[in-house]
Amino acid sequence: MDSHGRSALAADGKTFRTRGISRRVNQITISAIKEMPLLASRIGGCVSLGQGIPSFPTPEHIREAVCRVIREDAHSGKYTLGPGMPELRQAVAAHLFEDRGIAADPDRELCITVGAMEGLCAAVLTVVDRGDEVILPSPNYASHIEQVLLAEGIPVFVPLRKADWGLDVDAIREAITPRTRAIVICNPHNPTGANFARKDLEALISLALERDIFIISDETYDFLVYDGKTCFNMSSVAELKENLIAVFSFSKKYAMTGWRAGCVYASEGVLDHIMKVHDAVAIAAPTVSQHAALAALRGPQNCVDEVRSALESRRNLVCERLDRMKDFFDYVKPAGAYYLMARFKAPGVDSMTFALRLMKEARVITIPGAAFGPGGEQHIRISFGGADSEISEACDRIERWLSTNPFGS
Ligand SMILES: Cc1ncc(COP(=O)(O)O)c(C=O)c1O
Repeated sequence: MDSHGRSALAADGKTFRTRGISRRVNQITISAIKEMPLLASRIGGCVSLGQGIPSFPTPEHIREAVCRVIREDAHSGKYTLGPGMPELRQAVAAHLFEDRGIAADPDRELCITVGAMEGLCAAVLTVVDRGDEVILPSPNYASHIEQVLLAEGIPVFVPLRKADWGLDVDAIREAITPRTRAIVICNPHNPTGANFARKDLEALISLALERDIFIISDETYDFLVYDGKTCFNMSSVAELKENLIAVFSFSKKYAMTGWRAGCVYASEGVLDHIMKVHDAVAIAAPTVSQHAALAALRGPQNCVDEVRSALESRRNLVCERLDRMKDFFDYVKPAGAYYLMARFKAPGVDSMTFALRLMKEARVITIPGAAFGPGGEQHIRISFGGADSEISEACDRIERWLSTNPFGS
């Protein structure tokens, strides 16, 4: 475990060159979410409960719309304006208004980004100086840590409540210092599947306003809540606007992970600065991907319901399977997103050892909980984005492996 709470993967014993490499890049790492499949590819024959790529193809009407644009518009290969195509920003603004009552100005308050990831990174680089602190309720999405480190900020991990993975607002309050610049909140939550309680999020908003710190709201899974429930989006709260940077994604909602389209919403005064980072690193999001995003917003929305209902049934499947292994795992049932943190009952075994052995001996990819900050130790993250058959096969293998008593009695 390093000083930032990460358990860096040994990357097969590779040592990295440090000479000539900046301090800021030397101290970051490729997240274990991406490293585990890489290691697995060298082993061969693994099934994955690892990376968060859902099994669904991009809906046909989106792919068709892009083919049409490429065929008919000779200029579709050119850069768009930096903040993105005006018609796409208008469509996003209309969507945000209908969905959440957010009155975002498409010309001044929205920027289309290269996935949510670029938006999040630009947001952090915009508000964090060297030595500034950023609060990450932990366990947390691994890349949030690296983005803070890239800005030479200090991630401050505040544990989520273990019993339900809820936000501990009192603990967050205590963690705030004069150097605190932002709190990163992802709801519904990766890696735990939590859907944070509205009262906790409202308390957090009051806290952010009282202490004048930013909330960077990662809304990648805002559409994905189960059991007929919804989630409370902090971006809907008008009073927070000057202290909010909200980041949306097309990746999971429209099965568009590879298109790399996302969007940042912030007040004009803040977005003006985010745009400078966006210009320096991306110029503009890919034009074809912006057309895909536009087709997604303009097209039928039943594809979103289909994704949600398939993932809800996969959530149920994975929970049933884990219940059969309850001598070995416990977990909090996910209310949203498509991940859960399974706590393994193997005293003295850390999550990296557990996940590597599971991969080498049972040929199942999971992500060691330590990759998600200190709150993730003693867990593995299981993604149920894969097809039912994949989930069943992976659980069969885990069951068989456990029956060999891999950690002794
Ligand atoms: C919490 C979270 N934020 C951001 C991202 C990145 O999203 P995008 O593909 O839009 O860059 C992911 C992807 O898995 C995620 O889980």
